Amino acid sequence: NLSKELVGKKVVVTAGGTQERIDPVRFIGNDSSGKMGYAVARAFLARGAEVTLISGPTKLTPPNNVKFISIESAAELQDQVIKNFATSDILVMAAAVADFKPVKQSKQKIKKDPTNDRWTLELTKNPDILQAVAKIKRLNQVTVGFAAETTDLINHATKKLCEKSLDLVVANDVSQPGVGFNVDTNQVTFISSDKTVESTELLTKSEIAELLVDKVIKKTAKSNSI
Ligand code: PMT
Repeated sequence: NLSKELVGKKVVVTAGGTQERIDPVRFIGNDSSGKMGYAVARAFLARGAEVTLISGPTKLTPPNNVKFISIESAAELQDQVIKNFATSDILVMAAAVADFKPVKQSKQKIKKDPTNDRWTLELTKNPDILQAVAKIKRLNQVTVGFAAETTDLINHATKKLCEKSLDLVVANDVSQPGVGFNVDTNQVTFISSDKTVESTELLTKSEIAELLVDKVIKKTAKSNSI
């Protein structure tokens, strides 16, 4: 019996990992299962929001009642985020976006070279989606990023909060058991643009998602009263 504080609010949630094509049968990917982002989408639905879920390839079934957009690469994700963010109130980026992609995508399957035991794949930087979003963000829009770290969690996550002009960053130390990629639980530290820092216990991803939505509701209430 959650109250429907977010009726009339539009939310974009990204989930899963991007895949960067090398050739027709190979890609660069990561361990994101989509579980965290899908839990966030469900938690926003439970509060009455209108949810667009933009997802990389996962084994999950999208929740009913979301507008579902499927993407593969970071470039496709960026296009869809920018397109949908313009008319949205809230963006939560739980997706694990590849930082690099192959410079060239081969149209044919790349063959082994029998004369060489080594093969070098040249990569180039992907755009930072949240930094692009920061440039078009209006005052009353709320943006939330995740930070997946293995060392110095708070410092690295705080840097991301600033660089990406976020209202909230959800930092997870993915080197810890039961935390981060491809598990049903998570343990996070919420770092807010108002400088508050709050760590949770190890909880289910649904519970983490509910806490995240509570924090976003407080922020939308503030930005509406300006
Ligand atoms: O999907 P699960 O298996 O449930 O795992 C959950 C998770 C570990 C993927 C999730 O909790 C998480 O931490 N997601 C963010 C992973 C990540 O890419 O973190 P990052 O620290 O590299 O990026 C920081 C933020 O910038 C993220 O919100 C990311 O979506 C965003 N980003 C990253 C790169 C890029 N080029 N553009 C971006 O906008």
